[in-house]
Amino acid sequence: MSKRKIIIDTDPGQDDAVALLLALASPDELDVLGITCVAGNVPLSLTQKNARIVCEVAGKTDVPIFAGCDAPMRRPLVTAEHVHGKTGLDGPELFEPTMPLAGDNAVDFIVETLRREPAGSVTLCTLGPLTNIATAFDRAPDIIPKLRELVMMGGAYFEVGNITPAAEFNIFVDPEAAEIVFHSGVPLVVMPLDVTHKVLATKDRVAALRALGSKVGVFTAEMLDFFERFDVAKYGSDGGPLHDPCVIAYLLKPELFQGRHINVEIETESKLTLGMTVADWWRVTDRTPNAMFMGDVDADGFFALLTERIARL
Ligand code: RIB
Ligand code: CA
Repeated sequence: MSKRKIIIDTDPGQDDAVALLLALASPDELDVLGITCVAGNVPLSLTQKNARIVCEVAGKTDVPIFAGCDAPMRRPLVTAEHVHGKTGLDGPELFEPTMPLAGDNAVDFIVETLRREPAGSVTLCTLGPLTNIATAFDRAPDIIPKLRELVMMGGAYFEVGNITPAAEFNIFVDPEAAEIVFHSGVPLVVMPLDVTHKVLATKDRVAALRALGSKVGVFTAEMLDFFERFDVAKYGSDGGPLHDPCVIAYLLKPELFQGRHINVEIETESKLTLGMTVADWWRVTDRTPNAMFMGDVDADGFFALLTERIARL
């Protein structure tokens, strides 16, 4: 299988960090052209720092990291320190990264890369609010048909919301950006809470990562030990949901996931349901399908892949 060129847009966040590690541990399949950071779980100053920390922990400091948008397109930023802690990477002992930021022009990097690379060769992997992506699409609509695919973590249907009763965090933070992306015509694959709530980092699964005994294995286990507490307290679940790594796992083993190609619209007006992904799962409308919306996952297969790859770092 030829290497797949990807750009990862992210707001680390412990689950983003695990997704980054999974991608960086898979150089035979994935060519990470760059990492673009966006404000989300924590402010941009921290998401870009956290991305650099993760790359240094993985020993992959040759990947260019860019800072992007520090606020949603038309709304004030909403963050999630209550989930990720003040640093956004609470759990392991952190350090001041030494690798430099490649620039604060993440949107330009996305546009220039898509214009440079052959049409259909680059996949965007989005792990946070879609502000950088929508800004790039607005600034340079010519890059949209050049994309191979956009694989995102975001939205929810049967699982409803996690930041409000109706909305999932990534979409809720910047619903206008999400509307631009879902209406862009780009081939979309969506990993909603319906799937990510099925990949729980249970005690045994975290223990298997810690038992690797490597720096990265222990670092990952310490992040998940912290990250789980919010979901365990809220849902009574047996561990934290590994939302963002589902995006990377899909690129590596798509057969782990099942879904439907359906229409998904974004609520951008209602105060009550702002940011809701209105997914026509039962095809009761004549709206045009615009997304492969995932509904199920082989959780054991997912964690076998994740653990095997983390062991490589
Ligand atoms: O709702 C889960 C999503 O919001 C994940 O991407 C998590 O990192 C946060 O960004
Ligand atoms: Ca994220």
